[in-house]
Amino acid sequence: MRDIDVDPASLDPVETASRDELTELQFARLRQTLQRVYQHVPHYRETFDAAGVHPDDLRSLADLAAFPCTTKEDLRRRYPFGMFAVPRERVVRVHASSGTTGRPTVAGYTAADIDTWSALMARSIRAAGGRPGDVVHVAYGYGLFTGGLGAHYGAERLGCTVVPVSGGMTERQVMLIQDFRPDVIMVTPSYLLAIVDEMHRQGIDPAATSLSVGILGAEPWTGDMRTEIESRLDMHAVDIYGLSEVMGPGVAVECAETKDGLHLWEDHFYPEIIDPVTGAVLPDGEVGELVLTSLTKEAMPVIRYRTRDLTRLLPGTARTMRRMERITGRSDDMMIVRGVNVFPTQIEELLLRVPALAPHFQCVLTRPDRLDTLTVQVERRPGSHPDDAPAAGDRLESLVKDVIGVTVTVRVLDPGGVERSAGKMRRVVDNRPS
Ligand code: DLL
Repeated sequence: MRDIDVDPASLDPVETASRDELTELQFARLRQTLQRVYQHVPHYRETFDAAGVHPDDLRSLADLAAFPCTTKEDLRRRYPFGMFAVPRERVVRVHASSGTTGRPTVAGYTAADIDTWSALMARSIRAAGGRPGDVVHVAYGYGLFTGGLGAHYGAERLGCTVVPVSGGMTERQVMLIQDFRPDVIMVTPSYLLAIVDEMHRQGIDPAATSLSVGILGAEPWTGDMRTEIESRLDMHAVDIYGLSEVMGPGVAVECAETKDGLHLWEDHFYPEIIDPVTGAVLPDGEVGELVLTSLTKEAMPVIRYRTRDLTRLLPGTARTMRRMERITGRSDDMMIVRGVNVFPTQIEELLLRVPALAPHFQCVLTRPDRLDTLTVQVERRPGSHPDDAPAAGDRLESLVKDVIGVTVTVRVLDPGGVERSAGKMRRVVDNRPS
């Protein structure tokens, strides 16, 4: 594994600014953003007026709590370009996130926004352990999804050699890793596992490849999955977070030297954690829904955007910026089984404790006899004996019962039996009648 030495001179000065300096910068940027959206975006003027707040009411960062939140539905209602704060002609790029139902949500970028994003992604890749001169294999999808192009511009900005592979064609991914010898791979954790399986199929030892850093995100994954990936590939596996409505990847990232949660780049985004039911702002350290406000975005700033992602805020360590704990899950992915809340990440954590099971799984919800039932479909590890599968399934069922407190059915499939995705893995399949 690569040694991570951090030359303080290579950091952006703001990464080690004092908390007071950072607060001052945030306040100045926030005031300006509120004024700009109030002036240029009818949605914000209307919702601020309706809530009886005005940008001039902001006297400290905490005053933001009085402003209304923005939801995905608000963005959908103004589809496609109604949330832009600049004339459409100044928008040099759009991205969109598909979502599972309904219209996509659109994000727009001015040239300055693309420049900021590239700089933040360069900062993120460096924090994750990437260095100028590295070869970076980008297996996030290119297109309307922000993963591919976001990673691409950031890696170029850092001074890396970018291999823009995009997702899919797994055999070719392996060939390119063997031939181009990348130092860094940027990919969803679930697709990385599919690439690792393909290496095994070709008789290649994943730990012997050139890869020394994986920058993995776009979907929830656990610390136990990190351990699994790091040991199988003999590389650092670091979590990166972002969302298209706010920018794309690079809103927050872990530092490879500490791997203690994701530093949220607070010079560009102001985070709050709220109670998802009451909307009240919660103190740092308490788990709730992450709400983000743009501080520098030109084309489409968002004010108090409800991410639906559950996490908590912790003080800075390797950087001044506060950390957010690894995302437990999206509120949309929370399954309620006989009254108990269950997240796919909890299932992942438990199945990694059963040696005969592989970390490919899907949660299937059905409703026979009007009772919600959760079936976990999981694969046995390649090389394990098919006869061991029932005992492994029983073991997982009892772990879930003991730790989470719900009864689930585990179906252990042969290797390759669980659907693969070249991007974000669909962890929850809801087959209940609507
Ligand atoms: O997934 C941006 C991205 C690309 C992030 C590549 C990291 C790497 P969207 O498609 O808009 O954007 O989806 C955003 O994905 O609200 C979270 O629910 C989830 N998500 C993203 N990163 C993580 C992560 C991109 N590290 C939504 N852990 C977010 C858990 C994540 N969930």
